[in-house]
Amino acid sequence: MKNNNPIGLFDSGIGGTSIWSAIHGLMPNEDTIYLADSANAPYGKKSKQEIIDLSIKNTEELLKMNCKIIVVACNTATTNAIKELRAKYDIPFIGIEPAIKPAAINSKTQTIGVLATKGTLTSELFNKTIELYHDTKIIEQIGYGLVELIENGELNSSEMTELLHSYIDPMIEKNIDYLVLGCSHYPYLIPQIKNMLPINIKIIDSGEAVARQTQKVLKEKIGLNSSKEKGKAVFYTNNNPKVLSEILNGNYSVIQKEF
Ligand code: DGL
Repeated sequence: MKNNNPIGLFDSGIGGTSIWSAIHGLMPNEDTIYLADSANAPYGKKSKQEIIDLSIKNTEELLKMNCKIIVVACNTATTNAIKELRAKYDIPFIGIEPAIKPAAINSKTQTIGVLATKGTLTSELFNKTIELYHDTKIIEQIGYGLVELIENGELNSSEMTELLHSYIDPMIEKNIDYLVLGCSHYPYLIPQIKNMLPINIKIIDSGEAVARQTQKVLKEKIGLNSSKEKGKAVFYTNNNPKVLSEILNGNYSVIQKEF
């Protein structure tokens, strides 16, 4: 696999662009291809087998475009399907999981909150991870409806504010001092969530850690892009391109395509 081939990323929709931003920020001269499988969002409500099948479909599409590494920019797909993807393909996969470790080891109240999809919170991988931190009380909350609103472009709607309060206020009452955002769509909610949290509660998401891990694996296994130019970024969606284009602030063109 050539070091100058693109990095491929996929998510159930537009949320994984938060991971794309971290990767592009760290390695600006890498070419990237992003697939938003918005026609099938949300993944969070689907069965493990459905999530595996969709992840294979997205991987095949990225392989057709000669990607050198695949970033599963979706916690739900990572926690349900990355093992199967790694077993099926030779190419390296980078996944994203809720960042329990930094929250648990730094928590002073020994109580942390995790907001994620049902698919992530019920996965074997997530439940194995939390077993490692049995001294920490982990308040899990499924973010019902959040991904749907984000995919509809209703990031700042009153419905969003109401839903967020209903999920976050009970965690504050339970004395969390870290809130882990376990879904790649949720970093777009940080400005709103910050307004709801007392200042002692910190928000953690995994974007930068995933970018650093991608860089590390590329250096070890494939090589970084040798070009000195700014990398080319291509975005595909299998749904209406408007919301993806808006989340990218209109800075990149979005191609609509069936996959
Ligand atoms: N962005 C996804 C995640 O990180 C999935 C959201 C969904 O489709 O339910 O979990």
